[in-house]
Amino acid sequence: MKISRRHFLAASAGLSLSALAANNLKLFNLPNSAVKSYELIAKPFDLELMKDKTSQVWGYNNLSPGTVLRCKQGDTLKVRLVNQLEEQTTIHWHGMRVPLEMDGVPYLSQLPVLPGEYFNYEFKCVDAGNFWYHPHEGSTGQLGRGLYGAVIIDEAHPTDFTHEETLILKTWHLDAEGKFTPFYVKQNAAMEGTKGSFTTINSINVPTIELPANQIVRLRIFNVDNTITYKLKLTDIEAKIYSVDGQPLTKPWDLAAEGFLLAAGQRIDLAILTHHVKKQQLILTNNDDEQLAIFNVKANQKTNAAEKWPSPLPANPISIPDISKAETIVFNFGWVMGFLENPEQEAGYQFWQINDRAWDVQDITCVERPIATLKHNHHYIFELRNASPFEHPIHLHGLPFKVIASNKKEIIPHFADTYLLDGFETAKIALVADAVGTWMLHCHVLEHLEAGMMAAIKVV
Ligand code: C2O
Ligand code: CU
Repeated sequence: MKISRRHFLAASAGLSLSALAANNLKLFNLPNSAVKSYELIAKPFDLELMKDKTSQVWGYNNLSPGTVLRCKQGDTLKVRLVNQLEEQTTIHWHGMRVPLEMDGVPYLSQLPVLPGEYFNYEFKCVDAGNFWYHPHEGSTGQLGRGLYGAVIIDEAHPTDFTHEETLILKTWHLDAEGKFTPFYVKQNAAMEGTKGSFTTINSINVPTIELPANQIVRLRIFNVDNTITYKLKLTDIEAKIYSVDGQPLTKPWDLAAEGFLLAAGQRIDLAILTHHVKKQQLILTNNDDEQLAIFNVKANQKTNAAEKWPSPLPANPISIPDISKAETIVFNFGWVMGFLENPEQEAGYQFWQINDRAWDVQDITCVERPIATLKHNHHYIFELRNASPFEHPIHLHGLPFKVIASNKKEIIPHFADTYLLDGFETAKIALVADAVGTWMLHCHVLEHLEAGMMAAIKVV
């Protein structure tokens, strides 16, 4: 079904936005009050990704990654999105707790921003950490062509880190001439997704990054890829993970020798102490076989060497779920194999389902049929069951959750906004439904999202 803007206005008339805002007030009562304003102009531009080749990418302010948006926890961020693309768009603030009407979901939060239009986003930044922004419209193509950027919210008080770098990972869908190849390929969408072929950090293939000696370094690493889970390893140095999806770990984790799986949409803070450097070059790799970045560490002068690991980052003000009183809801992530059995048949965009329902990105009425309704401030366990052999990074808007159990992996409980659900895995996440609204639950492999794996969860 094709949707009209009229339909949205009629559908949203029943929503009381002021009621939503009132319910979210508790979150927005932090002391700070500075306002940071930005303008993001979405438009195509030429970028040299591959040496001597021009790629026609899309970005914000002629940048991809777009302008880094940065302010302090408790500040208000005001962002005007100006659409100079030839198609409609929105911005979603991945991992940030914002009111529903700022969440960027077309026809649910807002009308899509048409070519030539603008939209003003404004919200208080309640959590510190690494978040990111991207369209929630035409996802495979818009993100695939380069529309995304980092949002860094600084902790209210200074941390122990003395130097930082932001690393935004993406594998572009490009041919040898730097031209885009398809982002959505039906056969792949029905399986693990279409992988790109040219990996960059901040749009540079294997960048060399200089790190100062004797510093406590914070590497903010973002995976903004459409499809790929990177298995991050760092050679020749001890490293610790301080946060996952912007949410601090109470006790930082060692970056294990077998690497850390950073799924599409996820972020980590990785800490290293540069006086620990044995060789003067460190290499960040994707599972040994692919170099991602090279760090050159300046010679060690042994002055004021930072001798100990920084303290854990301060926890964000997230409601803590109480498992003993939580109600369990099962979400079955299903795989519809009709297309594979009969490739001639037009299976449409329905390879993936959540609890037997496939989302249709063309149909506005999907948002009116939430898959689950939660009671405001009640505690829940979501049991996530993967019925296919393919992995799904499952992301939930609006409600950060605590990862608590898995039948396949050892889990150290921690907060996150995306959980990488392995093939045939069952995992449990817990949360307090403390934000009224309708929040999207979806796979961040964008072809899976576009082929059905998205649902709405309503908190009333
Ligand atoms: Cu980053 Cu609904 O997504
Ligand atoms: Cu998926």
